[in-house]
Amino acid sequence: MQRPATTRWKLYNEDFLLCVNGIEDASVDLVIADPPYCLGKDYGNGSDKRTPREFLRWTESWILAVIPKIKKTGGLYIFATWQFSPEIFVFLKKHMIMINEIIWDRRVPSMGGTTRKFSSVHDNIGFFVRSKNYFFDLDPIRIPYDPKTKKARTRSIFVGKKWLEIGYNPKDVWSISRLHRIHSEREDHPTQKPIEIIERMVKCSSPEGGLVLDPFAGTGTTIEACIRTGRQCAAYEINPEYCEIIRNRIKKATAQGDLPFCEQMAPVEHYPGALAGSGS
Ligand SMILES: C[S@@+](CC[C@H](N)C(=O)[O-])C[C@H]1O[C@@H](n2cnc3c(N)ncnc32)[C@H](O)[C@@H]1O
Repeated sequence: MQRPATTRWKLYNEDFLLCVNGIEDASVDLVIADPPYCLGKDYGNGSDKRTPREFLRWTESWILAVIPKIKKTGGLYIFATWQFSPEIFVFLKKHMIMINEIIWDRRVPSMGGTTRKFSSVHDNIGFFVRSKNYFFDLDPIRIPYDPKTKKARTRSIFVGKKWLEIGYNPKDVWSISRLHRIHSEREDHPTQKPIEIIERMVKCSSPEGGLVLDPFAGTGTTIEACIRTGRQCAAYEINPEYCEIIRNRIKKATAQGDLPFCEQMAPVEHYPGALAGSGS
């Protein structure tokens, strides 16, 4: 595999809402936001324990603050659940253009569970952009056809077709296993995302060398995806223990040779004083 060039990342152990105004306007290529869901998860703080009303008010305030930071060619992915995605997507549609709703099928095995409704096994991911002139590079995320399918397309009208050689466009249902307890990627965090998902978003929705912003970093999946693919990354995480997990994760992957060399420095220009003493 060809290694991407040196990349830069920066982690801020901060409340994103207290920092966002310090980020330069129109400087970000892509936001990947995986915020608390209002499901009462324990992130070592009360961030997922708001009432639905407080949660939606808080969600609207960080969304309104982050949009001006995104370039006109840029976009935003937001993870949500069926409980609140309707309200969040309707709100976002007033301020951005909705391109897709991606269903992440977590491939949860059948295990009994609820008897009064259907078992919920998916996340709703919204993909929004600032303008119709948005960046989208399909080629790096195409899925190659298997030999059997390719063989079945040998009729002359298909021969030499680019799509047959380089693969097809992923659909909007992504079937990727969640990270169960003994998964090799798994860190000590209740809602860590598989890197395959984040890497796909980074590759198709940001240019190489571009700046990706993760306001709710968790275990640093976005940082790792950016380092792997040669993007800059600025990430914010309020829990200091998760910040420690992130630093160790990146250090370990780099030492194992899984990640290319990366520098830890601030790629985001903050206004003077906005983040005094906060970088880690
Ligand atoms: C759903 S998790 C993110 C998981 C992450 N995508 C991963 O793959 O590991 C949400 C994270 O947001 C953090 N968080 C909550 N409120 C925050 C805030 N105001 N600023 C920064 N981080 C916050 C929580 O501590 C939690 O780790």
